[in-house]
Amino acid sequence: MKNDKRVYIFDTTLRDGEQSPGASMNTEEKIKIATQLQRLGVDVIEAGFAAASPGDFDAIRRICEVVDKSTVCSLARAVDRDIIQAGESLADAKHKRIHTFIATSPIHMEHKLKMSPEEVIRRAVAAVKLAKTFTDDVEFSCEDAGRSEMPFLKEILDAVIEAGATTLNIPDTVGYRLPQEMGAIIEELHGHVGERAIISVHCHNDLGLAVANSLFSVMNGARQVECTINGLGERAGNAALEEVVMAMKTRADVFEGIETGINTKEIYPTSRLVAAITGIEPQPNKAIVGKNAFAHESGIHQDGVLKCQETYEIMHAEDIGLETNRIVLGKHSGRHAFKERLEALGFDLSPEDLNKAFERFKLLADKKKEIFDDDIRMLIANEITNI
Ligand code: KIV
Ligand code: ZN
Repeated sequence: MKNDKRVYIFDTTLRDGEQSPGASMNTEEKIKIATQLQRLGVDVIEAGFAAASPGDFDAIRRICEVVDKSTVCSLARAVDRDIIQAGESLADAKHKRIHTFIATSPIHMEHKLKMSPEEVIRRAVAAVKLAKTFTDDVEFSCEDAGRSEMPFLKEILDAVIEAGATTLNIPDTVGYRLPQEMGAIIEELHGHVGERAIISVHCHNDLGLAVANSLFSVMNGARQVECTINGLGERAGNAALEEVVMAMKTRADVFEGIETGINTKEIYPTSRLVAAITGIEPQPNKAIVGKNAFAHESGIHQDGVLKCQETYEIMHAEDIGLETNRIVLGKHSGRHAFKERLEALGFDLSPEDLNKAFERFKLLADKKKEIFDDDIRMLIANEITNI
């Protein structure tokens, strides 16, 4: 392995993210997002599922024309037709990867695939070998690995390594695992695979644990994390890229020496672009990119951050590409924040006038969810005529 401390960020906003109901994107929109993902510094952009539709195929081809630093990846089931289409969609890519997958859990093999475990291994090996005729960079995923049996996972991984797979992805497809369990699975598989391939993790968020599961996986040897911007994805979504990256950066004390290639200052612009294109707005209290993630409303918190930002901030708005944090004036706000806002708006009141204005502000704040700058201007204009 090149560098044991480097965690590769594999973004699947354009593939798994697009599987969010209502998130379909056209080719031009996908090109805009792919260009921004490259600027963000993601290592691999999963551009789509070539065999899914002619539109998907075309979008992958067009993305290959504009992306030259990140690797462009195309998804394929472990069937010849899919792999050939994936390979053809990547023909013009500077750096290309085929990502092929087949389910490995008893429930999927029996009820969905109706295939024996031996047949699943045969198909996986054939898929990887065919993919290798298009590119050296082949990723294999054990779909529903989170509910697969460990001896079978080891057996199929050995077989696909032998066939040429260079990245082995362990998806928790239905978001079932708890962080310690996911960590233990990755630790055991990492120990088994050793230096033969990179272990990747792909966690879904059905129990709200996708990011925690991804982080525990990194702690236990995963060196690629698959994730999406704003946590978009099938059902409850995928691990949110911004949360995984900022957790590893902010808690560098725990993730000793772990590095990604992400330019975190591009996180916010990327989040906004994806929200604007998909029409899916992150919830206001969403970690890192939600509207309130760097907003302070209570007087105690505002007073704290105005004196020393670190009192209530473990990272700064500027780190993710926002201009600044937000001091929101509302009924919980205190005198310190109110005075600062008045000064920023150019008002210099005597202590007595400030007291009166603050009283009026509190009365107004009881009636409104948020006090905006124009409310303050109005309040002071009235105050000055009444004083
Ligand atoms: O969740 C999943 O298992 C997937 C695979 C195709 C990697 O998205
Ligand atoms: Zn998935």
